Amino acid sequence: MNFDTLYPHMPKKIRYPVYPFKLDRGGHGLLIRDLAKRLFMSQKKLECAIDEKLLILFEGIFPSARYTFTDSGKSALVVAFRAFGIGESDEVILTTFNCPAVIDAVLTVGATPVLVDINERFVMSLASVKRSVTKRTRAIILTHTYGFSEDDQLVNWARSKGILMIDDAAQALFNNVNNVRCGFAGDVGILSFGSTKPIFSLGGGCVIWKSDRDSVYSSINISTESLDQLTQRYTGYLRERFQLFAMSELPEWSHVLLKKFGILPTLLNDKLDALPDRVDNAEPLLMNQLHKQILANQLKQFKQKEEALALNFKLLKSSIETCCDISVVGDIVEGHGYNYFTLLFKHSGDRYRCAKYLSFKGIQTCWNYYPLHLMPIYARFGKENPNAEKLWKLVLSIPFKPPNTADDLSYIASCVVQSMREVSNESSSVYG
Ligand SMILES: Cc1ncc(COP(=O)(O)O)c(C=O)c1O
Repeated sequence: MNFDTLYPHMPKKIRYPVYPFKLDRGGHGLLIRDLAKRLFMSQKKLECAIDEKLLILFEGIFPSARYTFTDSGKSALVVAFRAFGIGESDEVILTTFNCPAVIDAVLTVGATPVLVDINERFVMSLASVKRSVTKRTRAIILTHTYGFSEDDQLVNWARSKGILMIDDAAQALFNNVNNVRCGFAGDVGILSFGSTKPIFSLGGGCVIWKSDRDSVYSSINISTESLDQLTQRYTGYLRERFQLFAMSELPEWSHVLLKKFGILPTLLNDKLDALPDRVDNAEPLLMNQLHKQILANQLKQFKQKEEALALNFKLLKSSIETCCDISVVGDIVEGHGYNYFTLLFKHSGDRYRCAKYLSFKGIQTCWNYYPLHLMPIYARFGKENPNAEKLWKLVLSIPFKPPNTADDLSYIASCVVQSMREVSNESSSVYG
């Protein structure tokens, strides 16, 4: 049987969700307070010093830049493309080992995506870009998948050719490469505050404009999301929190009932059944003031999270050292994605076996990415990409982010080690 595209069945009780995204108490409070105030005040009066507050926080991370806050990371990409006049007749290079939101952003503006292969560090190489570049190439998107960085030579080469470098740090918000923060290495940077990201802010994104791009920044003219749109996001968030609560705390019989009434989703076990069947265009909006306040609140934990994630990464590395058939993706010196804590298996099939064992232990897992050029709707934008076709079968991400405690982390790490023993013994009955 081919396990490559399968997820194991969900844990009966999810002890460790793979996406533990949480809004801190400030987020809930702000929203409720603001909704209450809105009954008595105009939106205008509500606009306080938030822009300045957010500016100070961002200045500490990406100094001397301009920022456009959007309703999502995908919107941020679209805003950047439009600002630089990228559209029909232009080509944009990105790797095939990527999130569908990235290719959809390219397609939204009518440009042609060109999917290139990854190297053994999951990012594009100069050689693969050179093979794909044409006269129509206007931009290259760096994605720092799993926190790895693209070769400096690539950035320098693209600059010399006048190709725009879009530094998408949605997957690497906490990374520094040669003392430059991801998101700040290209001509324009992108961030995401979506539900799978370490700084979750009911979704949202940001375009970071370097100071020499002031005129491009000033040309942005789009509408702002409404309070109702933000409230809808909040309701969606509360629904997902309830679902997680139900799957981790309520008895199994109640799950069946909740699924029957559509309160709990029925999750698919095969990634092929969940592939996108159409391009999901983005219509970008600017973040509204309340959304910005929530983001500012979440960002206050930046330093603390950065440190915690780095420590967790070291712990995972040292705990898995003894397993010869897996390694941890990322490098302590160079950095790590901190968005996903990802294991790399030597043998295809072991990913599924390990995930199944972990599920049995209450640990949820996920894997990214199924290469874009293998998805029927994007197949025409890429040819054969042998590295991506090999590596996607070998990665598995595990829940290793805060708020997990040290005890949680050692339990999860020990389960990973045990799963590999079970795999090599092939004698366990738990995943027979
Ligand atoms: C590299 C990258 N860029 C952009 C996005 C889009 O971000 P969002 O989900 O906020 O639209 C994602 C989504 O995960 C991503 O992985």
